[in-house]
Amino acid sequence: MCGIVGILGEKPVANELVDALRRLEYRGYDSAGVATVENGHLDRRRAEGKLRNLAERLSRQPLKGRAGIGHTRWATHGAPNEQNAHPHMTDKVSVVHNGIIENFREIKETLAREGVTFSSETDTEVVAHLITAEMRRGADPVTATGKALGQLKGAFALAIIFAGYDDLMIGAREGSPLAVGHGEGEMYLGSDAIALAPFTDRITYLEEGDWVILHRGGAEFRDRNGRKVERKSITSSASGFLVDKGNHKHFMLKEIHEQPEVISHTLTNYIDLVAGKVAFPDLGIDLAQVPRVTISACGTAYLAGLVAKYWLERYARVPVEIDVASEMRYREAPMPAGGVALFISQSGETADTLATLRYCKAQGQRILSVVNVRTSTIARESHAVLPTLAGPEIGVASTKAFTCQLATLACFALAIGRAKGTITPEKERELIQALTEVPRHMVGLLREEQPYEDLAHWLSKARDVLYLGRGTAFPIAMEGALKLKEISYIHAEGYAAGEMKHGPIALIDENVPVVVVAPDDDLFEKTVSNMQEVAARGGQIVLVSDASSEKVGCRVATHLSVPSVHPFVTPLVYALPMQLIAYHTATFMGTDVDQPRNLAKSVTVE
Ligand code: M6R
Repeated sequence: MCGIVGILGEKPVANELVDALRRLEYRGYDSAGVATVENGHLDRRRAEGKLRNLAERLSRQPLKGRAGIGHTRWATHGAPNEQNAHPHMTDKVSVVHNGIIENFREIKETLAREGVTFSSETDTEVVAHLITAEMRRGADPVTATGKALGQLKGAFALAIIFAGYDDLMIGAREGSPLAVGHGEGEMYLGSDAIALAPFTDRITYLEEGDWVILHRGGAEFRDRNGRKVERKSITSSASGFLVDKGNHKHFMLKEIHEQPEVISHTLTNYIDLVAGKVAFPDLGIDLAQVPRVTISACGTAYLAGLVAKYWLERYARVPVEIDVASEMRYREAPMPAGGVALFISQSGETADTLATLRYCKAQGQRILSVVNVRTSTIARESHAVLPTLAGPEIGVASTKAFTCQLATLACFALAIGRAKGTITPEKERELIQALTEVPRHMVGLLREEQPYEDLAHWLSKARDVLYLGRGTAFPIAMEGALKLKEISYIHAEGYAAGEMKHGPIALIDENVPVVVVAPDDDLFEKTVSNMQEVAARGGQIVLVSDASSEKVGCRVATHLSVPSVHPFVTPLVYALPMQLIAYHTATFMGTDVDQPRNLAKSVTVE
């Protein structure tokens, strides 16, 4: 959601803070700021908008302190302007925060009665004032922070520096991730290891309720009761990663083109290519006995789960319950004994998904997660993790993470199917073969982007776009609609093709493009009938299909041709046209493709 970073350095740290924030900008980017301790005093620079505005401000008005914190914001409380930008501070303390302080109104009222005046609309500012109030009563910074933390409710990660203390920084974690980086005579804090990658690969993740007192010489960890605790450090692999678009105009396009490679990596993790069967890790459960799989996730990850429902039901004959995490977490859904709950998340930090995971765990479910960030909270709280090997995904619109989730889930469905005996070894070989051919088909599809560029001229003028599909093409249609609205801001909806005549058909006229996702499979004829209903009402059809024009048999405005693949793997291949339609429409319209308005890559608030 927001990104935070802190450095206790040997030299002035402002530029390094901005560098680290650049690596966190995917978490939020509506304002940014840094603060440092210089000659015992706190000073800060903040700027509305992208990080480059802050960098410009700093080049005009540098900060020289060697102890500093930084923040890139995705607004929750208060408009995205400079006044609400972090760090928030008093004469004694400066704070950056990711998350939400739920009881900030009560705290604010109490402090206001004591004469404190506030200069922002944020929840974060109360933290600075709470600590300051304790210090004014005589507490040292560590004691004051401990007391203030005890009064906060909600989800937060905090980094705090103090006037008069050049060698002190405090970090705290409750519900939002925070990593400590160990350097040589320097110490760091960051929302994730990627932020700290240029500085160090020795990382310690705070556990829930932990806080940490940093000096240049090391870190002292405390639990939520203030007791000193040991926390192990690990060597993070994030340091090898460079934020780099290569030759591509946007991270999103780079990530779209990485798919053949990362799908290969992911598949080879779950498939024995020589034997032609799934080679699944031991999940600590008897897959043959799984009575039901409960799936939960958000956004694009949820749509991957929806595809998995079709696969698990069809190939593994296992009942599946699926819901978006923001609903499932509060539904008090009953769970079967011995059930498996599966969570899908690129970041592994999505607040609603994590809350649902904890609910399912409390219901005695075996927790599996499909995550891209292996050190994430969702991964750490799962009984078993199925990593997607997509590599860091920087574009806010999920692309390669989605198809890697699909690849992993396809293998999971086959693993259960084999264990339950619902697929024969021959069928397994056939489906594995189909999966291994996916990267090649993706390469073929990505060679020809001109039709998508041409289509963008027309789609960019639409006010609404409908996406239709049946079977696994239905979630893919929804993913297409989500991608388009996310980055082009054109209103788009994905519908089950057969459901259209129950309402959405009223929207059809010659101004509404209808994208029909129709692989030439056993549902093709049904989808064509729905397409004809659209055509009969003057609808302009964009057909995404491998079927020949003769087989389609009705007028289409554009036919985006897709390689013919086994029906099992169509979701993986048809995801790419969805991404390309959205990408080229958005770039033609000139929107900020990698950082679309109002969104954040990692949604760590409810
Ligand atoms: O990190 P997660 O996969 O848990 O994120 C879930 C959604 O926020 C995410 O998929 C979102 O919908 C993407 N921006 C879609 O492109």
